[in-house]
Amino acid sequence: MKSLAEAEASWEDGRTWSLVYHAGDDHTTFLKDAHGLFFSENALNPMAFPALRRFEAEVVRMTATMLNGDAQVAGTMTSGGTESLLATVKTYRDWAAATKGNSEPEMVLPVTAHAAFDKAAAYFGVRQVRVPLADDLRADLGAMEAAITPNTILMVGSAPDYPFGQVDPIEELASIAAAHDIGMHVDACLGGFLVPWAEQLGVSLGVWDFRASGVTSMSADVHKYGFGAKGASTILYRTPELRRFQFHVTSDWPGGIYASPSMAGTRPGGPIAAAWAAMQAIGQNGYLAITEQILDISRRLVEGVRKVEGLEILGDPRLSVFAFRGVDVDTYAVGDALEARGWHVDRQIKPASLHFMVTPAHAGIVEEFLDDLRSAVDDVRAHPELASSGQAAMYGMMTTLPDDGTLHEIVLQTLDGLYSL
Ligand SMILES: Cc1ncc(COP(=O)(O)O)c(C=O)c1O
Repeated sequence: MKSLAEAEASWEDGRTWSLVYHAGDDHTTFLKDAHGLFFSENALNPMAFPALRRFEAEVVRMTATMLNGDAQVAGTMTSGGTESLLATVKTYRDWAAATKGNSEPEMVLPVTAHAAFDKAAAYFGVRQVRVPLADDLRADLGAMEAAITPNTILMVGSAPDYPFGQVDPIEELASIAAAHDIGMHVDACLGGFLVPWAEQLGVSLGVWDFRASGVTSMSADVHKYGFGAKGASTILYRTPELRRFQFHVTSDWPGGIYASPSMAGTRPGGPIAAAWAAMQAIGQNGYLAITEQILDISRRLVEGVRKVEGLEILGDPRLSVFAFRGVDVDTYAVGDALEARGWHVDRQIKPASLHFMVTPAHAGIVEEFLDDLRSAVDDVRAHPELASSGQAAMYGMMTTLPDDGTLHEIVLQTLDGLYSL
């Protein structure tokens, strides 16, 4: 297992741009210790494990305070951003059914809102209306409002979104939502532990949290920029009454009265304990310092990419996530050329672009990455045939398939293959 672990995508040295949020080896060892102390405990039963109940309550309260929520704000921890978003959609669906008799729920969201909303729509029978972006790659206010119907239960904005790292105009979206008496969820899974500190460092992104009175819920992941262990997110509602619709109770089961706050049954204690430990250990000053470092690395990278002829940064990324595309060079071929130079790169579609998410692990690689990027672009320019080999060919083919479910089927077959021996 140790030798297999060595062959995984290498992230400690900053050559991977997603999936792992690394704040140094000492912090990782510390997280493992905290996780290990509660490795076997199960937060399904808070009576049996009062320490976990306390950790969870305090993580929720600290996060609510960080996001400018008042004492009314109530939430739970979940296993990650996806579970928080699934829980969000289930909550509003049940809220609208109970309070408005709505049996054909719909939600309105920008195309950039995370794919977990698509999953939630499929799981919970909520129709999703995906709205194209404005020119600045943020939610288009007029189009979002126009998509609201009498069946709409929820509007969504991201702070920031995953594909382009833009913060949607949350305050404006929230007032539209309030005027229509629907929920407004801010997906801050990615930015919840970053934007509060970026604001203190002078990055102004509009009012994007509970300060906007129409915002009724937010999600923020401790396992991303909170630097907790994997398996830790928070979902926060403006009132406990709204949170009620997330809870599930079975009161007539022979196995006893079953009360479950989130989607999981068994809830591992380790991630909850590590989340609490991370927040205690890093603290406000720590998050501020880490954010300053991340913003500095991101700025240097974005400025560097802007100087590379033939590439274009998408939108105006001002946090830690950015994407670029090739203007006169094949984007996916540049991705392959970066992979050949030892970088693990994420490819996006619509438009074809490469995606980067910055953490402190990237502090030492900015110049090396930019050098490699310049030489990758030169390579692709000198060898246009690279666009029709390797992953570039595969992505190029996939993005030109007709919109008739063919791609969907190909990906399902790939999953079948990946999850068989
Ligand atoms: C904006 C946003 N929301 C939700 C998620 C989903 O989080 P997870 O992968 O923890 O389920 C992500 C993941 O990157 C994200 O960027």
